[in-house]
Amino acid sequence: MPSNRTVVLGIETSCDETAAAVVARAGPSNGRILSNVVRAQIEAHRPYGGVVPEIAARAHVEVLDLVIARALEEAGSDLGDLDAIAATAGPGLIGGLLVGLVTAKSIALARGLPLIAVNHLEGHALTPGLSEGLAPPYLLLLVSGGHTQLLIVHDVGKYRRLGTTIDDALGEAFDKTAKLLGLAYPGGPEVERLARRGDPDRFDLPRPMKGRKIPDFSFAGLKTAVRQRAEAIAPLTPTDVADISASFERAVVETVCDRVGRAMVLYEQALAPAAPRALVVAGGVAANKALAGALQTLCAETGYRLHVPPGALCTDNGAMIAWAGAERLARGWRDPLDVPARARWPLDPGAPPAIGAGVKA
Ligand code: KG4
Ligand code: ZN
Repeated sequence: MPSNRTVVLGIETSCDETAAAVVARAGPSNGRILSNVVRAQIEAHRPYGGVVPEIAARAHVEVLDLVIARALEEAGSDLGDLDAIAATAGPGLIGGLLVGLVTAKSIALARGLPLIAVNHLEGHALTPGLSEGLAPPYLLLLVSGGHTQLLIVHDVGKYRRLGTTIDDALGEAFDKTAKLLGLAYPGGPEVERLARRGDPDRFDLPRPMKGRKIPDFSFAGLKTAVRQRAEAIAPLTPTDVADISASFERAVVETVCDRVGRAMVLYEQALAPAAPRALVVAGGVAANKALAGALQTLCAETGYRLHVPPGALCTDNGAMIAWAGAERLARGWRDPLDVPARARWPLDPGAPPAIGAGVKA
């Protein structure tokens, strides 16, 4: 066994997945997942049509120790095999973050192990290093239920935010549209399924922010437009629901591609003269086939290579947290046992705050 091999337990509790994983790192961009256990809370939140923070925190308390035990068991490890404990410390729902971080601190204290407080967004940002050994720099589009950002990943710990949403996250926009149409939660996959048989040209919906120089996003106006169109023709037939889904998805895909195209220009300027043309898409919405297809076309036109981590590593998971922790540990970075959980924690502290109310990071 090479002496620089490290084994890290990662804990993720920032939203509605309770997750733990064990990852081994043998060198830069050289990681292996030994286990990756995710316990989703979809059923607990379904009656409310969205994540209820208090229910989420309680559910994390109930299952986290079992999830950690399962992750260690599946990895064939015990706590004595670990070199460090990593946990998401933010951004996210504070109750859930505290559950995961306090658990990690307790294990670290009891076993005398280093603690690494990981930024959830860094977990997503570094995932291609784990899934396919992709080394920075690259351009990242992060699209999930909580986040919509375009970032330059310069290196581990070094990020520049090019754009963010000034209101809703993209996954949130999918979920709210689904709720309005009476579809099941979480709504993104449902909207996509119905969009496949709908007419994307039937409703002329706005493409918010399209053409703007700074690659920010906004989805609140689109959501309102969907509601107004739906109300105007209510009660909705199944065809109406499919057509609205398709028109919404088309508007989203065109908007995101426009914003990514703009970010590519800024990325190339920032890394001139030799920007590796690599675009990574991460987060739950990366599972959307229409979006992935359109980004593939954009990449083909612009000479970029598109990297989409496998689904289980795109949605929230412990492996990405363990991997980010291992990358930080390798640089000698670790955190004190009194490190706080942070509901808001921008990956790029230098980025100006976006002008909007619902901005999460
Ligand atoms: O990354 P994720 O699992 O959790 C966080 O929000 O951090 O992302 C979940 C989000 C939800 O809003 C869900 O509706 C959306 O990703 N989503 C999709 C699809 N699959 C998941 N949105 C559109 N199309 C999909 N196929
Ligand atoms: Zn996430």
